[in-house]
Amino acid sequence: MPLDKPLGRLRLGVNIDHVATVRNARGGAYPDPLRAALLAEEAGADGITAHLREDRRHIGDADIESLTAGLTVPLNFEMAATDEMQAIALRHRPHAVCIVPERREERTTEGGLEVAQDENRLAHFIAPLAEAGCRVSIFIAADPAQIEAAARIGAAVIELHTGAYCDAHAEGRFDDRDAELERLRAMSAFAHELGLEVHAGHGLTYDTVTPVAALPEVMELNIGHFLIGEAIFRGLPDAIGEMRRLMDSARAEAFPEGR
Ligand code: PXP
Repeated sequence: MPLDKPLGRLRLGVNIDHVATVRNARGGAYPDPLRAALLAEEAGADGITAHLREDRRHIGDADIESLTAGLTVPLNFEMAATDEMQAIALRHRPHAVCIVPERREERTTEGGLEVAQDENRLAHFIAPLAEAGCRVSIFIAADPAQIEAAARIGAAVIELHTGAYCDAHAEGRFDDRDAELERLRAMSAFAHELGLEVHAGHGLTYDTVTPVAALPEVMELNIGHFLIGEAIFRGLPDAIGEMRRLMDSARAEAFPEGR
């Protein structure tokens, strides 16, 4: 059963990967992801997300060093379930690690992690991260089998992949979009019942954020590509401020009595 009021204030995690994409297009030192992250903090980001991919196509190892040293809000370190990434996470001990699937040929993280098929390995993989004090989040599709498996392996958090919902909206497939939203609604309630903290993200924009922000079990949204793109036109603080405003009004309208 969905909750009748939100569990708490909805946090906004700003993903700064694509500041590094722009920097890496030329090489060199600018634009600096840490500078963007500090500006995002000032603009109201509750956390910063960065994905160190195996091929280092955007964020690099030195960025993780500088973010770890320079941030005052929590860092959510996105990583594939590889030994190399586990060693890096254990060295830096970020506030959170989000385990994502990774394929070199993909342009972005296209699907959720296949947890149910790889349960044993993932349980052993995340245990040392949790022991080191990181909150372990698993990025998955809104699918009951994946959610149950995430709970069984001992994850504290799941992040629901909102890409299918956002793609359906962008392509004008509104029946599919509504069906995806319904799945996100039902699965965030289900995950909460299993004791998991629920986050969501991927592909969210001003046009798609409101119904997701109104899901009462969702505690955090992680948003990157759209915000970095929007920052070209209106500046990063304003781009983030508008997202924050939409998230807050989504909650206020859905739950006028709640928080
Ligand atoms: N959450 C996760 C787990 C992701 O992998 C990404 C993309 O790196 C995001 C959120 C943010 O997605 P977007 O950049 O499309 O907003």
